[in-house]
Amino acid sequence: MKIIVTGGAGFIASHVVDRYVELGHEVIVADNLSSGVEQNLNPKARFVKVDITDKEAIQSLIRTEKPEVINHHAAHIQVGNSVRDPQFDAQNNIIGLLNIMQAAVEVGTKKVIMASTGGAMYGNKPVPFDETMKEEPLSPYGVSKRSGELYLNYYFEQYKIPYTCLRYANVYGPRQNPHGESGVVAIFMDMIQAGKAPVINGDGTHTRDYVYVSDVVRANELALSSDFVGALNIGTGVQISTNEVFRKVVAAMQANIPEEHGPERPGEQTESCLSYQKAKEILGWEPTVAVDEGIQRVAEWYRQQS
Ligand SMILES: NC(=O)c1ccc[n+]([C@@H]2O[C@H](COP(=O)([O-])OP(=O)(O)OC[C@H]3O[C@@H](n4cnc5c(N)ncnc54)[C@H](O)[C@@H]3O)[C@@H](O)[C@H]2O)c1
Repeated sequence: MKIIVTGGAGFIASHVVDRYVELGHEVIVADNLSSGVEQNLNPKARFVKVDITDKEAIQSLIRTEKPEVINHHAAHIQVGNSVRDPQFDAQNNIIGLLNIMQAAVEVGTKKVIMASTGGAMYGNKPVPFDETMKEEPLSPYGVSKRSGELYLNYYFEQYKIPYTCLRYANVYGPRQNPHGESGVVAIFMDMIQAGKAPVINGDGTHTRDYVYVSDVVRANELALSSDFVGALNIGTGVQISTNEVFRKVVAAMQANIPEEHGPERPGEQTESCLSYQKAKEILGWEPTVAVDEGIQRVAEWYRQQS
């Protein structure tokens, strides 16, 4: 199949590209390299430097390539920045998607897979979050991802373009950008590798659900051949505190670093974890990499980079 992967120079989608190429698909990566990097590009995929907010440019690419599938990962991903600049977030995550979808309608794209969020979708509710719960995002980022889901549903109802939204938990793995505001595994590893001591925000007892990138890739593979239309949580159902992540990273990096705590970040959810039962029933997906194993793999990757 011919597949355009937006954001394919970034962390998650570059792994998706690698797998799609391995499966024999013709892959075109569309990315503006705002946070993605050329080292992540698969040499067997074609790369087009394009910004999805540039309507003419992205639509011209889609009109020329006429992809059967669009796998949409390009996005503004910083929750805190979305609070400071909701217009920028919406421009990328809502208008960017609409630019893509208007052209997808013209060329008869057969399927859209979109990276959505599970962590920022449900608001403050008892864990684990499941897809029957009301979506009540608390940040502009969560709102823009939910808007994207609703627009995809509109394009399905109106133009019969099937879609799958994969609502990821906290994804971690090799190639994750360590300079963002989230992604603690990458942030901690990068600092420890540089001989610095990371500072944990607050008392470190907040929990998150950490899903390894190869499991996320598998969900993107299964979604390609599924008829399912709608949203699926992609997480592990396991809650891990930031303190536990810190200790696991320190152990995996064989470092001897004291645990330091700084001020709490305001507005942080205290706990977050996703039920994956629906993805299991529909895609036959379940997480296969436990967090200890995943953190070991990232540490190994860091060692190879140095
Ligand atoms: N990392 C996580 O834990 C997580 C959790 C939930 C959802 N997601 C979603 O997964 C997707 C990928 O996230 P990631 O962690 O790999 O981040 P990333 O920053 O590594 O990847 C995003 C990619 O999109 C590109 N991009 C951004 N804006 C663009 C634009 N306007 N035009 C073209 N390209 C653009 C960037 O250059 C980058 O390569 C995003 O949609 C994100 O919202 C990630």
